[in-house]
Amino acid sequence: MTTIQSVELRGITKRFPGVLANDNISFDVRAGEIHALLGENGAGKSTLMKILYGLYKPDAGEILINGQPIRIKSPTDALRQGIGMVHQHFQLVPPFTVAENVALGLASSREPLTDLDVVSQRLRELSEQYGLRVDPNALVWQLAVGQQQRVEILKALYRDAALLILDEPTAVLVPQEVDELFVTLRKLTDTGHSLIFISHKLHEVMAISDRVTVLRDGRVAGTVATQDTTQKDLARMMVGRDVVTVWDKPECPSEMAVLRVEKLSALNDKGLPAVKNLSLSVCANEILGVAGVSGNGQRELAETIVGLRRATSGSVKVLNNEMTNHAPAAMIAAGVAFIPEERMTMGVIRDFTVQENAILETHADPGLADGVLLNFGKIQKHATRLVREYDVKTPTLDTPVKSLSGGNIQKLIMARELTRQPKLLIAAQPTRGVDIGASEYIHKRLIQERGRGTAILLISEDLDEVLALADRIAVMYEGEIVGIVEPNTPVDELGLMMAGATKGKSEK
Ligand SMILES: Nc1ncnc2c1ncn2[C@@H]1O[C@H](COP(=O)(O)OP(=O)(O)OP(=O)(O)O)[C@@H](O)[C@H]1O
Ligand SMILES: [Mg+2]
Repeated sequence: MTTIQSVELRGITKRFPGVLANDNISFDVRAGEIHALLGENGAGKSTLMKILYGLYKPDAGEILINGQPIRIKSPTDALRQGIGMVHQHFQLVPPFTVAENVALGLASSREPLTDLDVVSQRLRELSEQYGLRVDPNALVWQLAVGQQQRVEILKALYRDAALLILDEPTAVLVPQEVDELFVTLRKLTDTGHSLIFISHKLHEVMAISDRVTVLRDGRVAGTVATQDTTQKDLARMMVGRDVVTVWDKPECPSEMAVLRVEKLSALNDKGLPAVKNLSLSVCANEILGVAGVSGNGQRELAETIVGLRRATSGSVKVLNNEMTNHAPAAMIAAGVAFIPEERMTMGVIRDFTVQENAILETHADPGLADGVLLNFGKIQKHATRLVREYDVKTPTLDTPVKSLSGGNIQKLIMARELTRQPKLLIAAQPTRGVDIGASEYIHKRLIQERGRGTAILLISEDLDEVLALADRIAVMYEGEIVGIVEPNTPVDELGLMMAGATKGKSEK
């Protein structure tokens, strides 16, 4: 690898229909530096990085490497210049092995077929050197998200990337994995790599970066040395005002269980037990937080409750009505709303417009339809209101949802689900990948919903979020609730429970 002394973006401007995504942005990275890029959802971070990686062509501006102007017209050009990127949404081929994925697209001018043994050998060396544990012969579909991310990083390193762009790498990781990733990032800068690190988590940015550039509405709000700034200052730069992170929760007055899950069991996609004989209940005016390390059955639990996955035994009752294995439509009719973890595949229809997605599930409402016919005037008014109230950044109501930024898609789902005034809300990772301004808003709405009487099951891997919002915390480990505790439980104790080491006091 040849170290890159400096990469400089000068006056980058990029326009999409109806949006000025990047407005005269200047930004630079030096050898051995970790430069964090911060900004609210839709601020233009991914766009700027896609320009640097040759995926988008800027309307204006230039890129200089070691002081020399360079044209980057494709990712191949970028890689040739030593620039690699790990995307927000991974781009691996699931049925292929790790080594095959790495070999894929490599220029094999020397031989007709890249020798997979050679690739595997080199991968083992890189894994060892940078602490990126992964088996070259494993099939990608069998890997957990954290492992897939390591493959993406290895793929870039294999191609000799000296500058690595990491777009929200920690959004899919649990705390332990974040720590491991940070060790790797340090090793990379020690060997002269430069890194651009995008994250919405300010404490991560404070912990890992050397400098921070904040984008706001497509413009640079400022670049600062990390040691000269604070989380509070960064938040203010991003949002333009002070941000609230701790909420006061009124006491839960009602003892009525809206959701009662009893001895529920379900299998995961591979047919293995994922939810095991699990019981919990959520009252009106209450947020029950489910904390746990990713992959301990949280996702399967949510899907089973809302009827997207079959319960193999046990029961789900909503307001004392037996709802086990009822179709999602019946759950919706019973007043259940769902914010899924997999928002791109389960929460929205990617190719549908913002307006169409805003009325999914609600399209038969008397307010939106006249008999069997949809009332387009009313639908438009409804969608306009949702977009405005929830501050969904979209150029028009007819924009396909897939071109919205990740956080804005989440806000749209939230808007649609909450406007139905549900009795029970199942929220899975509601702020994953969402910026702090929007997170604050989503948290505020969850507290409001709770105040309105909604029972909320909040499933989150973000312990800070659970601690800030939940009235009670259920810790999930290997498909079971290992304990239900008060939100004032010390974090290290929760951590031990999440690792399956201890049992907390159970409510039963
Ligand atoms: N391919 C595209 N077509 C049209 N508009 C786009 C496209 N890509 C991005 N945009 C728009 O450009 C703006 C910036 O989006 P971008 O993805 O860069 O934001 P971001 O800062 O990465 O946000 P997030 O934190 O949510 O990932 C948004 O308004 C987005 O809707
Ligand atoms: Mg982005």
